[in-house]
Amino acid sequence: SRPIVIAPSILSADFSRLGEEVAAVDQMGADWIHLDVMDGHFVPNITFGPPIVKAIRASSPKVFDCHLMIEPCDPYIEAFAEAGCDIITVHAEATTHLDRSLQAIKATGKKAGVALNPSTPESVIQYVLDRLDLVLLMTVNPGFGGQAFIPAVCDKIARVKAMIGDRPIDIEVDGGITPQTAPLVAAAGANALVAGSAVFKGGTPADYERNMAAIRDA
Ligand code: DX5
Ligand code: ZN
Repeated sequence: SRPIVIAPSILSADFSRLGEEVAAVDQMGADWIHLDVMDGHFVPNITFGPPIVKAIRASSPKVFDCHLMIEPCDPYIEAFAEAGCDIITVHAEATTHLDRSLQAIKATGKKAGVALNPSTPESVIQYVLDRLDLVLLMTVNPGFGGQAFIPAVCDKIARVKAMIGDRPIDIEVDGGITPQTAPLVAAAGANALVAGSAVFKGGTPADYERNMAAIRDA
């Protein structure tokens, strides 16, 4: 089975000190750094783009796991690759031609992921499995941190796990992941856990270390 990955989402970090916050979660045990890119069109919030990714790249050598909640997504894939993303994940709901979008990500040399909103059936990835390095299953409706976990998605996690079989594809879950919900999603088959508010609560590196350990050991 694939090792459990903890990927703090910087959406819940102190945006006035983003570089320091990335360095802190890196040093306190983060496996990946989850970057929530929002455009105010695909989701009802706006965060940041390639310039910020570029600015924080030197703060950590860890995997930059870039979650694109933007539509259209294709025109920006190259810029996020250039800015330093290691995994680029697009929403199936944000592109008419998902196979082409995934090919465009692979053409940059980066890993390709697809994200599914809570109501989106896993069948949409059936014909692109062999282009995927990661499937991101949203356990909240995208746009904000600190929302309540949607338990219905656990069934989808198990179904995606069955679809993937022994392909080298990470199953990442995102939204409302805490020490209480982490066991549910891990049991269903998720191996990469994104957490924002549950990691950054408390606001100090010591808190971040304790919070990530609590999720990992749940
Ligand atoms: C929501 C983002 C998530 C969010 C998770 O649109 O994609 O990554 O930051 O935040 P929590 O862990 O607080 O639910
Ligand atoms: Zn995210």
